[in-house]
Amino acid sequence: MRNPWPLLAYCLRQPFKMAWLRFQTYRRHGVILPRGALILRPENIRIGKDFGLNPGCLLLCQDRDKGSELVIGDRVALNYNVQINADSGGRIYISDNVIIGPGCILRAADHSFERTDRAIRDQLTQPGVIRLDDDVWLGAGVIVLKDVTIGRSSVIGAGSVVTGDIPPYSIAVGIPARVIRTRSDTSYEPTEAAA
Ligand SMILES: CC(C)(COP(=O)(O)OP(=O)(O)OC[C@H]1O[C@@H](n2cnc3c(N)ncnc32)[C@H](O)[C@@H]1OP(=O)(O)O)[C@@H](O)C(=O)NCCC(=O)NCCS
Repeated sequence: MRNPWPLLAYCLRQPFKMAWLRFQTYRRHGVILPRGALILRPENIRIGKDFGLNPGCLLLCQDRDKGSELVIGDRVALNYNVQINADSGGRIYISDNVIIGPGCILRAADHSFERTDRAIRDQLTQPGVIRLDDDVWLGAGVIVLKDVTIGRSSVIGAGSVVTGDIPPYSIAVGIPARVIRTRSDTSYEPTEAAA
């Protein structure tokens, strides 16, 4: 039989760890984490006013020493199971009034894979930057890769993969996301940007 102590120790430690994380998140940001949501390293993250997140959301900013940065503006809303990952030196800037649909993933780093004589997991990571300008809406299941800026007041269709910059006021869909049209009403007045 396997040694039961590691499992037992894990089970005993876990509730305290989670309670501590929840306390830190509330103390720093006034955010009450819903079921299954987690903000790892809340001390490395900046969050504006009226932030909302749903169960299953995951915010990560664990490698400050490598330059990781996650800045979230005012009135940003995350639907269910959104993952925003600025680990490994990634930098993510989400401006004001951004809404992110269920199951979206923003990941601001790639694994290096130049060498074939060693496993990909043993190679370095390549960090980058993701910027979502004011008033962007990501539909359900959108994936945003590193080194992408989505311009102000743009809409990204459900299931799209955004691999390059999207100009302001665009509607973009597909894999890779391409602009299908431009929104005609450009009267939106942005509030102060997050970064
Ligand atoms: C992007 C979106 C807003 C576009 O709506 P729209 O302007 O009314 O666009 P249309 O329905 O007229 O579609 C225009 C074209 O784009 C295509 N298209 C629309 N959405 C698409 C998507 N998500 N992926 C791929 N193609 C898409 C349509 O098939 C159509 O193609 P066609 O001209 O060859 O027929 C909408 O399709 C969408 O994806 N909404 C997100 C819904 C969602 O995720 N809700 C929950 C999140 S909170």
